[in-house]
Amino acid sequence: MPSISNPGTFAERTQKSPREVGGGFVGGLRARDPFNGGGLMGVIARYREHLPIGPNTPEVDLHEGSTPLVESRNIARALGLKQLFFKYEGVNPTGSFKDRGMVVAVAKALEAGHRVLMCASTGNTSASMAAYAARTGVRAIVVVPSGEIALNKLSQALMYGAKVVAIKGGFDKALETVRELCHRYPVALMNSINPHRIEGQKTAAYEVIDTLGEAPDYLLLPVGNAGNITAYWKGFREYHAAGRSTRLPRMVGAQADGAAPIVTGQPVANPRTVASAIRIGNPASWEGATSARDESGGAIEAVTDTEIISAQIRLAGSEGLFCEPASAAPLALLFRLVQSGRIEKEATAVVVLTGSGLKDPDAALKNVEPPIELEGDARTLAKVLKL
Ligand SMILES: Cc1ncc(COP(=O)(O)O)c(C=O)c1O
Repeated sequence: MPSISNPGTFAERTQKSPREVGGGFVGGLRARDPFNGGGLMGVIARYREHLPIGPNTPEVDLHEGSTPLVESRNIARALGLKQLFFKYEGVNPTGSFKDRGMVVAVAKALEAGHRVLMCASTGNTSASMAAYAARTGVRAIVVVPSGEIALNKLSQALMYGAKVVAIKGGFDKALETVRELCHRYPVALMNSINPHRIEGQKTAAYEVIDTLGEAPDYLLLPVGNAGNITAYWKGFREYHAAGRSTRLPRMVGAQADGAAPIVTGQPVANPRTVASAIRIGNPASWEGATSARDESGGAIEAVTDTEIISAQIRLAGSEGLFCEPASAAPLALLFRLVQSGRIEKEATAVVVLTGSGLKDPDAALKNVEPPIELEGDARTLAKVLKL
């Protein structure tokens, strides 16, 4: 069987041309709710029959999911890659993919009678949990690594009314503390070790297939605590088993060089990377990630911070898609894998852009031209701009 280190060609593996697989469907299927002025359906309404939702599960919805699968115009051409898509999760209600799993986890926590929700977070989980807690009128407590989360994410949690506690010791310590508290007190644990989070997040894989009409050859995404790669792989396998796709994609995970426990096979005591969302040294869903990698014939590899920031800037500047640093890691890895011939040019690849660039613009801004400060009139400006 071909693997990512020895890939067969697209045609060898699928017996179909990329156009047969992907053509015609792209961008066509956004789930709209006829009872809500044609607005987007939330994850639970759209995929209810695939989720652990029963008659007693309360309705929770911020119109999350149904995010666009944007076809690359410029990067694919520059790489010579036939089909490249970006699953733009930054347009979810709180700006990241976390809303998909959180809506299901909150609904299930309410169903179980919980009134207090808690999570450890590198930022996005806390923003998402706090939003759904605000919406449903329950208490939200978030524990974040002190001084390590992007200000915009912190401001979201605070604005949604969560109690935010910053503790020293990084994300892994925060999660350990939260696990202990949730074990001792009647508090619902909302991290992705909560299986309902994985259930909701797997719907992104369904959407990729619903839009393309088939699974892609490669699905690339960042790996931090490893819940999302676990969820995507579950979603792809379920849709495949249900006959909604004829094949499974290779799962390709990207970690950052200074926070690459799965790549090296060792927990990292002091993870370091500019991509704070994946600054995690001991992923809770480690096994889920390695299963996804091994069962799919994929790979999990590390990229440098320089590669991450340069991919982030290139994506924004050549596709008009602004993602946060963690989300640019798989794109940086794609560059490497295509350039080294490990991903074949006839392949269909989907890169998951997990969070909006507005979440954490600081690192990238240090690497782009600052605004021009000018005193003067239109003539002076025209001169400076060489119009
Ligand atoms: C933007 C973003 N990308 C990627 C990840 C990593 O996802 P996971 O922890 O499920 O591997 C996170 C997690 O916080 C995130 O916020």
